[in-house]
Amino acid sequence: MSDASYPKDFLWGTATSSYQIEGAWNEDGKGESIWDRFSHTLGKIEDGTNADVACDHYHRWPEDVDLMTRLGLNAYRFSTAWTRFLPDGRGRVNQAGIDFYSRLVDGLLEAGVTPFPTLYHWDLPQALQDEGGWTVRSTAEAFVEYADLVSRSLGDRVKNWMTHNEPYCAAFLGHEIGCDAPGWQDWGAAIVASHHLLLSHGSAVPVIRNNSPGCEVGIALNHEYPEPASASAADVRAARLYDGYYNRWFLDPIYGRDYPADMVKHYKAEGYLPDGMSFVEPGDMETISAPLDFQGVNYYTRVILRDETESGNLPPSVVQRQPLTEMGWEVYPDGLYNFLNRFYFEYRPVKMIVTENGCSYQDLLGADGAVHDESRIAYLKAHFHSAERALEKGIPLAGYFVWSLMDNFEWSSGYTKRFGLVYTDYETQRRFPKDSFYWYRDFIARNE
Ligand code: GCO
Repeated sequence: MSDASYPKDFLWGTATSSYQIEGAWNEDGKGESIWDRFSHTLGKIEDGTNADVACDHYHRWPEDVDLMTRLGLNAYRFSTAWTRFLPDGRGRVNQAGIDFYSRLVDGLLEAGVTPFPTLYHWDLPQALQDEGGWTVRSTAEAFVEYADLVSRSLGDRVKNWMTHNEPYCAAFLGHEIGCDAPGWQDWGAAIVASHHLLLSHGSAVPVIRNNSPGCEVGIALNHEYPEPASASAADVRAARLYDGYYNRWFLDPIYGRDYPADMVKHYKAEGYLPDGMSFVEPGDMETISAPLDFQGVNYYTRVILRDETESGNLPPSVVQRQPLTEMGWEVYPDGLYNFLNRFYFEYRPVKMIVTENGCSYQDLLGADGAVHDESRIAYLKAHFHSAERALEKGIPLAGYFVWSLMDNFEWSSGYTKRFGLVYTDYETQRRFPKDSFYWYRDFIARNE
């Protein structure tokens, strides 16, 4: 693989999120989040763990910034915890929470690393969940109050913002499938929640711009590249349906095209919208389509759909192809190029950033402190090659954040999955750079 010519100002980063790495779940005035509540609920987390401590980043962040410096990163994507700023979701301000992120931002800037915060990476204040969470419109209003406080507090130094991480997950994994907090299984609730998440995004964009002069604002969406298992009309239809459910339901409104009509029709036919789209109020769709400076793309794999209506009107099945990562996701680097290519020419974002890409493997820590994660190096090499293909095609790819800087709490999988470039020993909280850490460091040095 030839290292292509990356733009001079290309962003070389890694990504994390507050709940997955910070710990200090109830320290310095922080309020309870829905993930604190969810992970403290028996049976929700595969290994029975929680992120009360996680990577203890809340206390060890200087050491972690040093790791970023050793990697040669020029950017770092993290998320801010709503309940450190507003423990009850709105109203009472917790200055200690503001101070933590202010110190982190100053530390990053001193290290020459550009901070790229995401305001919401799934850790909703439990107090707001108690009022209905994302299924009620008032939560979207509370999000704007939160976005205003964070951008007023940090907007003098932070000039790159993401409102949300993967609203698909917050809405559908959280309210339809139920594997994520708050753990509901209600299609109608998931659809309404998706609207309020998008509404909160669009409402917050102008507020952030106002508080952070000269900033750039975007959103990070997760995308899978859907393909039909065969050329049959049924399989093609199944792939298109999945594409609508997973990708277009979020992309179309953000890019001013309203909700995809085929999906509204499908959801009504399935009985998920007894009152139609009555939760959409006049002006909402215009608010949601607030112009953005960049589009974040979280890419991990493709998905192959096979129609199952003939076998008893079952939902489409997913056909798995080898090789798989420990998450059971197919390693399919072409899917990153395919999605960037399709997405750019269909939606014409100003520019795109890979805001997440990485893989989980059962990494073993050697007695010498080394972790020989050849599979992760191969995965990253292949996916950066896809990014280079996109750049060579003239697609405006402005950066790449590898998920993740270090092993961390992988949601309902607990600590059973390791995505880090750095091995986290949760017993000692020691960090051990893996071979992929050194590969990424050298790759950045060669290409920046
Ligand atoms: C996501 C989230 C991350 C995950 C990562 C691995 O994309 O699901 O943004 O928090 O940990 O993607 O699953």
